[in-house]
Amino acid sequence: KLKSKTVFVCTSCENTSVKWEGQCRSCSAWNTIIEHSDAGRYGWLRKESFAAVHLADASSDDLPRMPLMSGEVNRVLGGGIVPGSLVLLAGDPGIGKSTLLLQLAAEVAKEHSCVFYVTGEESVSQVKMRADRLGIDGQNLYILTQTNVEDTLARLDEHLPALAVIDSIQTMYDPSLSSHPGNVSQIRECARRLLEWGKANNVPLILTGHVTKGGDIAGPRVLEHMVDVSLYMEGDAVSSWRLLRGVKNRFGSTNEVGVLEMTGSGLLDVSDPSESFLLDRPKGAMGSVVVPVLEGNRALLVEIQALTAPSTIPTPRRVATGYDAHRLLLVCSVAMRTCGMPLADYDVIVNVTGGLKIAEPAADLGVALAIASSFRSVPMPGDFAAVGEVGLSGEIRRAPQTERRVKEAARLGFRKCLVPGNTDDRACGPEALHYQRVDTLAQAINMCL
Ligand code: TYD
Ligand code: MG
Repeated sequence: KLKSKTVFVCTSCENTSVKWEGQCRSCSAWNTIIEHSDAGRYGWLRKESFAAVHLADASSDDLPRMPLMSGEVNRVLGGGIVPGSLVLLAGDPGIGKSTLLLQLAAEVAKEHSCVFYVTGEESVSQVKMRADRLGIDGQNLYILTQTNVEDTLARLDEHLPALAVIDSIQTMYDPSLSSHPGNVSQIRECARRLLEWGKANNVPLILTGHVTKGGDIAGPRVLEHMVDVSLYMEGDAVSSWRLLRGVKNRFGSTNEVGVLEMTGSGLLDVSDPSESFLLDRPKGAMGSVVVPVLEGNRALLVEIQALTAPSTIPTPRRVATGYDAHRLLLVCSVAMRTCGMPLADYDVIVNVTGGLKIAEPAADLGVALAIASSFRSVPMPGDFAAVGEVGLSGEIRRAPQTERRVKEAARLGFRKCLVPGNTDDRACGPEALHYQRVDTLAQAINMCL
């Protein structure tokens, strides 16, 4: 009997069919059916039988980890890479994924006799050029330019490296599938086969994946359920800071964020991000406020700058870089209504320096103060930091983990911090920092400006 090589699986109900269809017969969803290789239907679990273990007797410390060169990368991984694990490093093109992985691979190669760097994006000489730039001599580091997953696995089998990097999963293809590389079914199938190989041989694998602007279906998102660790590399094309954020981690916390800096000789750990972010801060500048924001478990001090200028168009502009545009609109409207700032004829531009993107409302107070400072042409006192969410009636609302933020501000020499009025004493801690409670935005502006 002829065995079909591929099956078609609905991604929403897992129903399988022998041919592709636009609509799933089982759950009636449209465009959810993708091609799958038949071989992988039973997952990567080998056919060994395992005895059930009593959870009370199980130990959590039999997870050996291979520490990597970068302390910041280790922090996000949860202390190093776990053998046999599959790590996905996703990020915009050009953000520095290949650079980071080449550096990590070279560092692991110092301790192990074979490390693989598989690239489907660059030629060996391109990789060599980059390696020269990074000062990597290439001992024990093997470069394989290959996009065929079967050939890649054959080479991996042959050398059995201590670590393998696949750059990128989008360029890999499985010749048994008819679709093009980069297609969802190709990405999933290639990742599945690599996963299977990594688990079977206890070799850690790091895949890179490009994310595209706006959702992206065929990107690395489809792999998230499959990989053990999923990291995102973020940053601004014009700034040199790179944030490494864990979005999924089966071996550690996803609340960890690593901060790296892209330099002329590759990515370096930033040991004190707050200090680095504030290094270029002008003294006594108008429209500049320092805000302690939380990135995962970490409090980071960032500078928020604002500029107000008379508008030349009927609908004044509200432009935010690194801060949510809707929140800017909210903050401007609240400032107009509750503090009497006539911003209706002014353009308002807000910028978070260093290319950081602030997602939390706790930065609202800082943004509002920066706008007020620019509008009134009065600089904020230099040793002030501010934290709090602005509510629609002009009230300052509590921000999570105020204590951690205040501590970070105190550590960097800030002597005063504006905090929401209902922050309890305990949250502010016994630091050498004077905190000032504010209940409304108007009160905060009067206090500082
Ligand atoms: P790259 O690692 O190729 O990005 P990705 O793999 O995510 O697409 O990074 C490319 C950028 O990094 C490129 O614009 C040049 C810059 N770069 C440095 O600034 N310093 C360096 O040492 C290297 C190798 C690259
Ligand atoms: Mg690359």
